[in-house]
Amino acid sequence: MSETLANLLHETRQFPPPGALADQANVTANVYGAASADRLGFWERQANRLHWHKRWDEVLDWSNPPFAKWFVGGQLNVAYNCLDRHVEAGRGDKIAYHWEGEPGDTRTITYADLHREVCRAANALTDLGITAGERVAIYMPMIPELPVAMLACARIGATHSVVFGGFSADALKGRIQDQDATLVITADGGFRRGAPSALKPTVDEAVAQCPTVRNVLVVRRTGQDVAWQDGRDLWWHDTVDPASAEHTAQPFDSEHPLYILYTSGTTAKPKGILHTTGGYLTQVAWTHHAVFDLKPDTDIFWCTADIGWVTGHSYIVYGPLANGATQVMYEGTPDTPHRGRFWELVEKYRITILYTAPTAIRTFAKWGDDIPAQFDLSSLRLLGSVGEPINPEAWMWYREHIGGDRCPIVDTWWQTETGAIMISPLPGVTICKPGSAMRPLPGITADIVDDTGTSVPNGGGGYLVIRDPWPAMLRTIWGDDQRYVDTYWSRFDGLYFPGDGAKRDADGDLWLLGRVDDVMLVSGHNISTTEVESALVSHPKVAESAVVGATDPTTGQAIVAFVILRGAAEGDEALVQELRDHVAKTLGPIAKPRQIMLVPELPKTRSGKIMRRLLRDVAENRSMGDVTTLQDSSVMDLISAGLKVGASTED
Ligand code: WT7
Repeated sequence: MSETLANLLHETRQFPPPGALADQANVTANVYGAASADRLGFWERQANRLHWHKRWDEVLDWSNPPFAKWFVGGQLNVAYNCLDRHVEAGRGDKIAYHWEGEPGDTRTITYADLHREVCRAANALTDLGITAGERVAIYMPMIPELPVAMLACARIGATHSVVFGGFSADALKGRIQDQDATLVITADGGFRRGAPSALKPTVDEAVAQCPTVRNVLVVRRTGQDVAWQDGRDLWWHDTVDPASAEHTAQPFDSEHPLYILYTSGTTAKPKGILHTTGGYLTQVAWTHHAVFDLKPDTDIFWCTADIGWVTGHSYIVYGPLANGATQVMYEGTPDTPHRGRFWELVEKYRITILYTAPTAIRTFAKWGDDIPAQFDLSSLRLLGSVGEPINPEAWMWYREHIGGDRCPIVDTWWQTETGAIMISPLPGVTICKPGSAMRPLPGITADIVDDTGTSVPNGGGGYLVIRDPWPAMLRTIWGDDQRYVDTYWSRFDGLYFPGDGAKRDADGDLWLLGRVDDVMLVSGHNISTTEVESALVSHPKVAESAVVGATDPTTGQAIVAFVILRGAAEGDEALVQELRDHVAKTLGPIAKPRQIMLVPELPKTRSGKIMRRLLRDVAENRSMGDVTTLQDSSVMDLISAGLKVGASTED
């Protein structure tokens, strides 16, 4: 992939770890060697960071690939690891969550508080007849009862499935039906963009067509009126609050199903990604400790994701709680009541580690440097990025304007399917390059291969693969083992294929280029959309861009770019020319966009990924496809109506 361009993208900026951080880092350079010399021994040591009711007999059973079993024969309880053991060790008064509601209401929740609430909820669920192995769908706003509900399920061995609160009744219904959930936990609503946003009506609509659901448990958050079905619907405060706070956690098998999380595939039917217990908790806890250098006594960790995504499961709930971290959890959006809300929270809680997404970072850059500059961000010591490739310029903006030029940035590559971080710098070890996720973590064997599955040399590009099983890997697609095999293990014999393209630079460092479906073929050259987007964003007037390949009679595909300008910049034909030339200069003439459209917004999924399919429709003048998973479907109208400049030029 991108052979022509591979050598053109020169990134010479390098950022070594700050000395003090490196001196006290949780993980040092020798771990790489130790892990590659004995990969299973390495993971066994990380599993030992947890409490096991019964130790495992075998680290990995890979006798029936691609169906892995980790820590075979071991038994543990996830909630015990996240709560009881901290309380028993005398850390009950330590704050688990500083929770901040969007309207500004707050709750301070200690480990002892959380433990009590989870025990109550576990008893309440048991009283409702929920038994180990049953599925519980959770459809909630970002309130403390959400992690409580997840941990209560884990505590009694019920398998939870969190559905993001922005999904439609149809999407919720499909997910409940796919797993035959018997209980739905929800709220009347949550606060979003300054107003209560209802959830219960969506649940009512969905559950009307889900005969397996016996009960709907409802947290009162907004106080808005809700329809009520007696016998089925129960208030959380009537059901959980009066329940006993005494509960003894029972051990479950290491391979007991912990949760199902749906991820949308290329086809319509979402995939229920199944994660299990021992291996998952081992890897999320270790990566949270290693990649974020988490010091439980002094750090304040904030992951800005919604718990409805895997990032929130692994790095708001399971990883940080297993490590006894103190976190900030925020209910709302970054622009309510004002665009400095994130930085206000950093200042207020003296947050030390911030983990967010490139789409947010680019939005902040677009809003202007002056906003974060109004807040005291000096508590920050480490920054993280996840969700898509981070362009070098967004990386630099993050480093400079949020990290005060002193914080290392960990660009973490992983997926819903991998369960935990796989490729990332180690903040006390790695000399980082802006835009590169650098190296596979210790214990992970990632590689880049060509079409035939052969490893490419340094300087080459191709497909990212994972060679060996890892503890937090998905175990299957719920109810569809064959689809699991076909989707992930069939492209290359014996290798896991995540669907991403990647490049290995001259030093052997990895550059993730997004989904291979997003690679364009222009006059016989493979060009990744990410590379062109990064080139555009490196222009001082560009805030954000999305690039697609549109069918072209001469070149096969032609590059069409959608560009959002920075705050004050004015767009005209001259600027469009300048941007086209800028890409040509940065990447080579072959990558010069045929067309650049200046737009006010870009269509994104609710997890922040650009919906290139819709932009391709615009680029090819087709009528728009399905927009139901769009975060804000009016964006497409905005784009059609608001196209400021659309230069189409041949030269
Ligand atoms: C896809 C997975 C992992 C939690 C959030 C997304 C892309 C993710 C990076 C990164 C380049 C990245 C990949 C991956 N991606 N992180 N640091 N650099 N690309 O989870 O919704 O399952 O999406 O997100 O394309 O395959 P997801």
